[in-house]
Amino acid sequence: MAATGSAVGLGNIWKFPYIAGENGGGAFVLVYLVCILMIGIPIMIAEVLLGRRAQRNPINTMRHLAAQADASSYWQLIGWMGVLAGLFIMMFYSVVAGWALDYVVASAQGTFSGGDKNSVGAYFTELTQSTNLQIAWHSTFTILTVAVVAAGVTKGLGNAVRFMMPVLFVLLLVLLGYSYQQGNFMAGFNFLFSFDFSKLSGQSVLTAMGHAFFTLSLGMGAIMAYGSYMPKDASIAKTVCTVAFLDTLIALVAGMAIFPLVFANGIEPSAGPGLMFVSLPIAFGNMSGGDIFGTLFFVLVGVAAWSSAISLIEPGVAWLTETFNINRLAATGSMGLVAWLGGLGCIYSSDFFNFLDKLTANFMLPIGGLLIAIFTAWVMKRSHLNKELGDISGLSFNLWYASTRVFAPLGVLTIFVYEVYSLFA
Ligand code: TRP
Repeated sequence: MAATGSAVGLGNIWKFPYIAGENGGGAFVLVYLVCILMIGIPIMIAEVLLGRRAQRNPINTMRHLAAQADASSYWQLIGWMGVLAGLFIMMFYSVVAGWALDYVVASAQGTFSGGDKNSVGAYFTELTQSTNLQIAWHSTFTILTVAVVAAGVTKGLGNAVRFMMPVLFVLLLVLLGYSYQQGNFMAGFNFLFSFDFSKLSGQSVLTAMGHAFFTLSLGMGAIMAYGSYMPKDASIAKTVCTVAFLDTLIALVAGMAIFPLVFANGIEPSAGPGLMFVSLPIAFGNMSGGDIFGTLFFVLVGVAAWSSAISLIEPGVAWLTETFNINRLAATGSMGLVAWLGGLGCIYSSDFFNFLDKLTANFMLPIGGLLIAIFTAWVMKRSHLNKELGDISGLSFNLWYASTRVFAPLGVLTIFVYEVYSLFA
């Protein structure tokens, strides 16, 4: 449940539709799905496995398992890079989550009722140009996240997520139904699912792979930290497949709720980060009960972001408390402060915002994932892996092993090479 809470977030509802829009739709979506299946799932299994085996925070997990395998202690760099990546992601994540919080209030006040592309678009532009408003919401979101992490991740949040995630899903289905009736459903469908490979550049392939890591919360230790809290008798493979399935389903439903409205309202699919913040309020603003549904929807987006943000700072907090003799509140407070300051940078400079987004999703997470796969499948003993994944059949194990050892690393490397190549081509 917690892993689903981490995976399902702004990545699914906000980021996936807008980057699919910027990268021309169908072919991009196909590459993304292939990456989830062939790279994301095997590496996610590996990441959970490492955490559960070592029962420590990501930095100490890597140090411990490397020592156990007589390998270089440099492997702990995976953990270090992960803590850094988590902070970097939190810096822009919290700003976007702040937008969602603003939309809670705006929807409740009926700001969007009867809205169209121009009025809602103007509202979004005004919000993203107001530093004060953004700082207020970004700070609110940071405080909310710090509060939960300081109190301990397991209980309170676990329960909240168990209840909120299904509600979020139902609301997405309501939006999907609205979109089907009022939007240009076929245009949306064709955009997302007809594969026009001529639109696919090296950059889009890299973005699709990066997003597969981002949406599954992979490559920076978040899933490793959660793996360390996982009971020894729980099935890693089943859990991972469920999380990946739900995560993908929610992204696709969000996409199918958004694009028919985008086309019906003459919005550019490549409109960028504002795509969800413009198309969905128009839908709510023009349906009956829309103010209430809209308010609830943005509350849930906020909650989804919240349960993801927690996993962004948890590895660093766990490391601080387990390494130095400081309490959880101080550890969480320091992580929160650093992320908050970086968030100010993202509010003042959209270049900084984009830089952090690209740096983490396109480079830090895939590199982290690549190293995790190599460590798991080349450095660790096969018998140890077998023990952690004991519940799956020999065939499934071998399939996973081959993917983690060869295909997933090769996939990541090929995409990097293709990217470099297309830079010069
Ligand atoms: N997966 C989340 C989303 O899609 C974001 C996220 C949370 C994340 N924790 C992470 C991304 C760790 C990478 C690494 O919104």
